Amino acid sequence: MALRNIVLEGDPILRKRCRPVDQVNDRIRMILDDMVETMREYHGVGLAAPQIGMMRRMFVAEPEEGRVYCFVNPELVEVRGSQTGDEGCLSVPGYQGTVERPEQIRIRGLDREGNQQEYEFKGFDAVVMTHELDHLEGILYTDKSTNIYEVTDDGDQ
Ligand code: NI
Repeated sequence: MALRNIVLEGDPILRKRCRPVDQVNDRIRMILDDMVETMREYHGVGLAAPQIGMMRRMFVAEPEEGRVYCFVNPELVEVRGSQTGDEGCLSVPGYQGTVERPEQIRIRGLDREGNQQEYEFKGFDAVVMTHELDHLEGILYTDKSTNIYEVTDDGDQ
């Protein structure tokens, strides 16, 4: 595994829509593993492929220590309710902002082995997953935030 460089806000790469992954093969698995390692190194709770300069529809997330998800070609199939909270992004270091997100979601996608999976997420998990899905559309939380402020702690996505 290897650490990848994180693309920062201002780079046009973060503003493009990502293309689907054709096949979950060893190369894709290697990139997912690198993404998990990079996310952990920078104390993030999520990392999307465009954040390492790869314009493919996939992301990793670890909303709680030890609970890791890899999603390839994810789709949001259900959205319920709303919640408002503060979040950060590894591509926007040193800042957080308040964002409105769904309270509960259902998401479908391929896992690291290429098998179709469907999960339901609530609360903070739903925040993390929708934040990462936005990255695949070229959307940053700063587009949706009502206030952005400087911080020094971890928990970025
Ligand atoms: Ni992010």
